[in-house]
Amino acid sequence: MSRRTPLISGNWKMHHNHFEAIQVTQKLHYRLGDHDYDGVGVSIHPPFTDLRSVQTVIGADRMKIALGAQNCHAEEKGAFTGEVSAPMLAKLEVALVIVGHSERRQLFGETDDMVNAKVKAVLASAMTPIMCCGETLEEREAGDAEAKVASQVRGGLAGVAADSVANMVIAYEPIWAIGTGRTATSEDAQAMCAAVRSVVSEVAGTAAADCVRIQYGGSVKPGNIAELMSQADIDGALVGGASLDPDDFASICAYRS
Ligand code: 13P
Repeated sequence: MSRRTPLISGNWKMHHNHFEAIQVTQKLHYRLGDHDYDGVGVSIHPPFTDLRSVQTVIGADRMKIALGAQNCHAEEKGAFTGEVSAPMLAKLEVALVIVGHSERRQLFGETDDMVNAKVKAVLASAMTPIMCCGETLEEREAGDAEAKVASQVRGGLAGVAADSVANMVIAYEPIWAIGTGRTATSEDAQAMCAAVRSVVSEVAGTAAADCVRIQYGGSVKPGNIAELMSQADIDGALVGGASLDPDDFASICAYRS
């Protein structure tokens, strides 16, 4: 049995206004029993505008669901119109922040250096980064998947202390599997997550590599989660589309039952 506590995270992306967010969070809470959280962490990552409302319902009902965000700026404050800082998220009891999602990299020009700065900002505010990596279809077909992901992981973790790396989460999300219904086979997902762990071992040592949690993301559904979670190096899932529906997401979180 792994020492790593699995983490199932729902990345809502740009879906659900704050009224919908409250309903979805409450439904998810009702669908999950106490035993579903035994040895499994569950987090939801609503848009910024929902965070305060979701934090309030989680707190009022003492839910075991952890609150997460989808992004932050690397600076603490300043003239960065439209941005939100890590300390602002920490004040809202946000526990986990996704950084370097492939949509941020592809659509908003985030580089490995920016991702690295955000990882450090999240850690400095005592939150846990979920640092994303993943290759495009062209890179996979060219046989470059491992090299691409290794360079993202090296870049994202540069200068991060080994004990901080140990407490982080890294999400391996092949871009060709995101929102396409085309999941990586559990063997491919396992091989890539093992490759990520060996890069972590290289840059932060074996103790950190043993502790870091590695999620798989990309068309995770109630029907494929159990098989993915049975793989030795897969410690959780980062779920997009299927996390929007509380029934589906609850089934994914309760993958052991
Ligand atoms: P889907 O689960 O919709 O493929 O999205 C995956 C993802 O990008 C989660 O961050």
